[in-house]
Amino acid sequence: MQHETKLRETARAMVAEGKGILAADESTPTIKKRFDSIGVESTEASRLAYRENLFTAEGAEEFISGVILFDETLRQSIDGTPVPELLSSRGILPGIKVDKGAKALAGCPGEKVTEGLDGLRDRLAEYADLGARFTKWRAVITISEDIPSWACIEANAHALARYAALSQEAGLVPIVEPEVLMDGPHTIDRCEEVSEKTFHALFHQLHNQGVLLEGINLKPNMVLSGTDCPEQASVDEVAAATVRCLERTVPGAVPGVVFLSGGQSDELATAHLSAMNAMGPHPWELSFSYGRALQAPALKAWAGREENRGAAQAAFLHRARCNGAARSGAYSSSMEEAAAV
Ligand code: 13P
Repeated sequence: MQHETKLRETARAMVAEGKGILAADESTPTIKKRFDSIGVESTEASRLAYRENLFTAEGAEEFISGVILFDETLRQSIDGTPVPELLSSRGILPGIKVDKGAKALAGCPGEKVTEGLDGLRDRLAEYADLGARFTKWRAVITISEDIPSWACIEANAHALARYAALSQEAGLVPIVEPEVLMDGPHTIDRCEEVSEKTFHALFHQLHNQGVLLEGINLKPNMVLSGTDCPEQASVDEVAAATVRCLERTVPGAVPGVVFLSGGQSDELATAHLSAMNAMGPHPWELSFSYGRALQAPALKAWAGREENRGAAQAAFLHRARCNGAARSGAYSSSMEEAAAV
């Protein structure tokens, strides 16, 4: 297979010991929502100013192996240096979100399918030229009483595999992201059942479409109680259910599982990851690719003001350090207390 050695090496580097991925690929409407929460106007300049805090935080490379960027950011420069070059010079792999978002799935009310396959081969070639080393595509599966349908699970799995094959053809490691949403009153058992079906269907399609499993990373949800479920599973229950679900569905050839945070609090996302790693060894690296759980305190500390850059960077580095510790099961709540004093 063309690019095989490079794909294997990049996929491994993304889950290097003690490190994980920063998801900073919020689309323009999503970053506007985040900025609205701190009362800051979202402009091309303010988006770059905020992300510059993250990309230039000193020492972040100790815990961060790669950053997922949005199209706009991949083309921006900081003090004259293109963002992908700036990250690479610090030993951080630049990645790019390539899907065009989850859209209503015709024939399946309440369900979504992710679009963006048309023209993807050409876009991937351009992203590789601009310095990207890996890509991301997110599929969304919603749980309610009578969904997800098989049609939704299969349509999303098929699109994820087509994206992954195209990405590998361009020499870019695909992050394959099937996200079973945590919204709703469902139990953790129901989340486990739906996650198992979804991941199983995904690996069936990846196999059918000739995707090199050693050259991808999986970005799944954790197996959690629904947000509105009256009974919330404990950290240990979440860790056990998530590991069991992965063991049943994810081949050992896959180098890494890099979880999304999906709306969990930052501290809980770290505690869950740490508990799973404490149960190891596992056939795959268990790591993070968090958006909100790495950024929320930094966004709040920044509040749109240049003079808060140091505080924002300190908040980001703290979360990065905690998640770096969770990579080996070594996170404890005393790390939070130590940072608070
Ligand atoms: P969250 O960690 O905020 O869920 O974001 C991760 C991500 O990249 C979702 O696609």
